[in-house]
Order: sequence, then structure tokens, then C-alpha cells
Amino acid sequence: MIGVIGSISTDFVVTTNRVPKQGETVYGEAFETTYGGKGANQAVAAARLGGQVKMFGCVGGDQFGKETKANLEDNGVDVSAVKTIENTTTGSAHITVFEGDNAIVYVPGANQLVTIDYLKSVEEDLLACDYFVIQNEIPMPSIQYLIDLADKHDIKVTYDPAPFIEIDPSYLKKVDYLLPNETEAKEMFGDVEADQLLGQYPTQLLITLGGDGVLYHDGNQPVHVPAIKGELVDTTGAGDTFSGALTVALSKGNNLTDAIQFAAIAGSLSVSKFGAQGGMPTLDTLKAHKQFNVNWQI
Ligand code: RIB
Repeated sequence: MIGVIGSISTDFVVTTNRVPKQGETVYGEAFETTYGGKGANQAVAAARLGGQVKMFGCVGGDQFGKETKANLEDNGVDVSAVKTIENTTTGSAHITVFEGDNAIVYVPGANQLVTIDYLKSVEEDLLACDYFVIQNEIPMPSIQYLIDLADKHDIKVTYDPAPFIEIDPSYLKKVDYLLPNETEAKEMFGDVEADQLLGQYPTQLLITLGGDGVLYHDGNQPVHVPAIKGELVDTTGAGDTFSGALTVALSKGNNLTDAIQFAAIAGSLSVSKFGAQGGMPTLDTLKAHKQFNVNWQI
């Protein structure tokens, strides 16, 4: 079982062909409300690809809370541990999409209430998981608590440190798969040369490069896995798709190299449609891709 512990949000998405400067108003092209939250996105990505997924998180007692929870259920995610907190708003992200790429203002709302007390209240369910998938849209003390819990109980952890928040470096070594993008890697480790950095975290650190692929160290040497090129509509949620897909492939017993290639296909398909979850592939869609390898254990 994959336990995704993280944010559940509504995305308010504006598409524009001009980004306003501070103090300026511009005409936008379109507005849409879509499902998001890095945690919920990772859960949906993993479930669509055949993972058995349980979501841990909090929503508000508003309409958005009901809808986001129902969306997770519709995608096959177990929501029995998700807590609804009355008199609180569900998390939200305010997204501007410009030329297919996004800028996001995230307002945590109920996601801020994914506290250690909440985690203790669902501990039995957490300990039933083989994998934890975590990101940084819940409080840092909870993230550190989860990493320690996983370490103690031999649960594997996929950790996407987005958006970047300072973390005590001692926790990084306890994570099995650390997935920063280039900017987050710089914020985390400073201006270290990529090959040198990867060599310090072999088979553990995966630096995602968006349209340029992924860098990691396979235990012998640094490896660059190129991105799979395809149609680009919206990059929102591509990193979450990669993280969810990688965890599914690893949980089914694939080696890291194969799991990265599987996740790279999922990530490339995810950007071909609008919205964080709009382009996330199902297993059938992924299997139909020309780069799917029939020898993968999926
Ligand atoms: O990673 C993309 C997600 O981050 C969006 O769905 C939005 O919720 C943001 O916080």
C-alpha cells in the first residue's frame, strides 16, 4: 500500500498570454477550477497507474472539501483517513498558466492542520503502508515526524521537497528517494556541481529537469535520463505525476532505472492536457506508449 501524506487543494487557474507586472492589470484568456494539491495529485497519479493508494490529509468543511475528497475517491484513492475540519477552508492554489508553464501562489488552509497529532490519530493506517509519498505542502514538523516513523518501521519514503522549505539535513539521508527540481536542489544543497552532488547520494537523489529529463547516480556513474518529448499544454502537476508513477513502479519491484523510465513517460503524458490531473495517464494509456517496456513489472 502506498500512503500519500500531503495537501489536498482546489486549483484556481488563469490562462494568460501576458503576465501582469506588479501593480498592472491585463486581460486573461480563460479561468478554470481544477483539482490539485501536490499530495492529492501524487495520489491520483499513483492510483491511475494501478497503485493501491491511501490518502492522508485534511480538507475544510466547505464545498471544496467535499468535492476534492470525492475526486480522490472517483480516482480509486482510499480516503478513509482524510479528516474534514469544520470552520476551515480547503487548501487552494492560485495558478497563472503562461505559454504552458505555471506560477503558483499556494494557500494551505486545512493542509496546515496535517499536524503530528493528526498523524498520531491515523498511525495504525500509516504503519500499514510500504511506501510514504511526501511533499512540502504540509507543516515541516509533520514531514520530519513521518520520515522518522518510516525510518523506524522500515517504510520506504519518496520525498519531493516542493515548494522548498528548510529541512534539517539529517533527515535527507533517511529518505529513500529525494526528488528536487533544479531550483530546489540549489536551495537545498547550495551551488554544488551536479555530478558531485549526485555522487554523494547515489540511487537516492533524483534531480528533475522538467523538459530536459532527470539526473541521478546509478551507483557507478551519473546518468541523464532525457525527457520524452510530446505535446506541451500545461506543466502543472508533472512533478507530482513523476513522483506518484515512480513510487508505483518501485512498489511493484522494478529497479530504479526502469522506475525512472516508467515515470518519465507518465510525466510526459501529463503535460499534454490542461490541469494538474487532466493529463495524468491511466495504466492503459501508459502501456500504449511506444516507449513502454513490456518487461517492466506493472
Ligand atoms: O504541483 C502542482 C500543484 O501544486 C498544483 O496542483 C497546486 O495545487 C500546487 O500547489
